[in-house]
Amino acid sequence: MDTKIISFYEKDFEKCVELIKNNEIVVFPTETVYGIGGNALSSEASLKIFDIKERARDNPLIVHVCDYDISKYVKNINENAVKIIERFWPGPLTIILNKKDIIPDEVTAGKDTVALRMPNNKIALELIRRSGCPIAAPSANISGRPSGTNARRCFEDLKGKVKFIIDGLESEIGIESTVISLVGDPIILRSGYITFEEIREIIPEVRFYEKINSKIINDDVLSPGLKYKHYAPKGEMLILKGDREKIGNFIKRNINNFKKLGVLCLSENFEFYKSVDEGVNVVDVGNKDDFNEIGKNLFESIRRFDDLKCDFIISECFFEDFTNAIMNRLLKASSHKVIIL
Ligand code: TXA
Ligand code: MG
Repeated sequence: MDTKIISFYEKDFEKCVELIKNNEIVVFPTETVYGIGGNALSSEASLKIFDIKERARDNPLIVHVCDYDISKYVKNINENAVKIIERFWPGPLTIILNKKDIIPDEVTAGKDTVALRMPNNKIALELIRRSGCPIAAPSANISGRPSGTNARRCFEDLKGKVKFIIDGLESEIGIESTVISLVGDPIILRSGYITFEEIREIIPEVRFYEKINSKIINDDVLSPGLKYKHYAPKGEMLILKGDREKIGNFIKRNINNFKKLGVLCLSENFEFYKSVDEGVNVVDVGNKDDFNEIGKNLFESIRRFDDLKCDFIISECFFEDFTNAIMNRLLKASSHKVIIL
């Protein structure tokens, strides 16, 4: 199959709408990361997504909607759900509620709950609206790889597997939505762009799922996605917590152990690491304390180390708080390897 990157304004956009209507799969932009999507009311379409992505069958998909009327898809829309939707939709916040039968079991991987989100992206909303159905879409990458945040990276993973990738430039946010279960007590299952503090302003009793950052190996989790490897570059990754001088010394001591060493760092430390050893491949993720910039660049930066063919990557520790979305992604990308210097 040929894979074509198209723009929203091309005639081919209409073909994408037709494909979704025919239970075929299309890659499209959202404000968080790109999605690989199909008709969320079709088990056939959702099974295709699992196959293309090589996704574990027990890991449910997020259903993307283009309007506020979710009563067709879920039961028990409680007060918390109404508050969250009013405050954060359209936007990077996914809610989990009890599903109605119209949502196939294949989409929710057999769960009786479903994840719903209204993306804040014109192309995504238009695709959903014109297709006339909600769109089930996980991030547009092969499972285990960093999420795609531009059409080129989605193409890298999915060429030959989908007909169209709709180009929506760089994802504005670059990290995935926050996932919150509102079925019982409100509980955040995945940290994301919307922070715990922002949610606590409207739901004071909200809490973080205690396994949000743990390296889980058993089946006993509220959100199946927590079990799997995520966001990883091809080389091995390690987070070093310490000042740049200590990290520089660590690099000097270890550089000969690797074929090609990469360093992921803040912009202000870019020149410093370049000066440590000329063999180091330095990628700059953004300015210190600029959460939005680092988030926007994170997955693209991690994928740069694949382009550079780095077999080992050292990342600075950008924030103290490992539960924020950036540190959560970095922790998973490095398979939880952190050394405190
Ligand atoms: O920003 C995003 O959320 C992006 C864009 C494309 O919208 N999508 C995304 O999807 O990140 P995905 O499939 O990569 O992650 C969905 C997460 C998984 O960790 C999954 O386990 C969890 O949501 N999830 C989905 N439905 C669930 C459910 N019913 N109960 C618990 N967790 C659920
Ligand atoms: Mg994903």
